[in-house]
Amino acid sequence: MTPLGMLADKELLMIKLGKPLGLLAELTHRCPLGCPYCSNPVALESRAGELDAATWARVFREAASLGVLQVHLSGGEPAARRDLVDITAAAHDAGLYTNLITSAIGMTSGRLRQLVDVGLDHVQISIQDSEAFSSDLIAGYEGAYERKRALSSEVVQLKVPLTVNAVIHRANIDHIEDFVALALELGAGRVEIAHVQYYGWALRNRAKLMPTREQVERALHAVERMRKRYRGRIVIDAVTPDYFARFPKACVGGWGRRSLNVTPSGKVLPCHAAETIPWLEFWSVRDRPLADIWESSPAFSAFRGTGWMREPCASCPRREVDFGGCRCQAFAITGDAAQADPVCQLSPHHMLVERLAAIREEAAFDYRH
Ligand code: SF4
Ligand code: FES
Repeated sequence: MTPLGMLADKELLMIKLGKPLGLLAELTHRCPLGCPYCSNPVALESRAGELDAATWARVFREAASLGVLQVHLSGGEPAARRDLVDITAAAHDAGLYTNLITSAIGMTSGRLRQLVDVGLDHVQISIQDSEAFSSDLIAGYEGAYERKRALSSEVVQLKVPLTVNAVIHRANIDHIEDFVALALELGAGRVEIAHVQYYGWALRNRAKLMPTREQVERALHAVERMRKRYRGRIVIDAVTPDYFARFPKACVGGWGRRSLNVTPSGKVLPCHAAETIPWLEFWSVRDRPLADIWESSPAFSAFRGTGWMREPCASCPRREVDFGGCRCQAFAITGDAAQADPVCQLSPHHMLVERLAAIREEAAFDYRH
């Protein structure tokens, strides 16, 4: 069962009370890989500005008091933090379900065991393709694939639930069946077929990553086949990629509704890409308690609920289903974050998405650096 599955009743209650459920703790932007679709901002935060372990411990206690149930320890690569064991122990001691999101690079067997000893509950490992050569090429790191396989096996041996995360784009979308087979072979209980979202580094590489409509259709059929074939053996999470959907996703479950992100330096964001909207004002955990930030910070208030919406969202029956879609995508494509997500077929800007989805460029990736 998934962490959120186990917590479903409490989750519904917390949403009703207007409390967040999940916290993404970006412990560092440092990472040995160079994935061209990285969700970190193009202007990475420096090591010198990172929060220390004691501050993270306070943030976790405040998050738990606020109602947060689970924390995702992420990056960059969280293993780049020498104090990762202390940070994980603090999250566990605060009563949070702890999920480590790792590329596997820099995570030794010994440290994994220490993390499990202090209470790590779940591990998510990203894999760039279903075979070594292509996987290492996309990651920009030779030998990464073998290390990911080895760490997966160590996680399973320690009886910690494992999710394999596969970020999908034109170069690997035809390998979805192989990804699922690989995840099963590695002993994962879940595989996320996560199509690239075009912000930050991925926006730079959009035309190099964009699949064709035919590829997307084949991929959706492949997921359905795999779900039938492996029912009861592995959970397959997948949604239609944004640029090929008719309606947008409820990004982050609705802005300021279910989750918050804390950046390496302590800024609190409603979603991982919120800093791409240049006029938003973010508050920091260095200056204010998390509860104040959640309730009153200008960035969280900007698009919470439905009051900010214009037509066609304002009178749309789906406005509390998808909350107008993704604010960062609306900004990236239309230049106005308060527009309906142009992925929506009802948006007056929808033709921009169709145009962008048709642009493809065969050239080397612009790797994250
Ligand atoms: Fe969602 Fe707005 Fe489109 Fe309605 S008009 S489906 S609320 S994005
Ligand atoms: Fe920011 Fe969707 S990524 S709202």
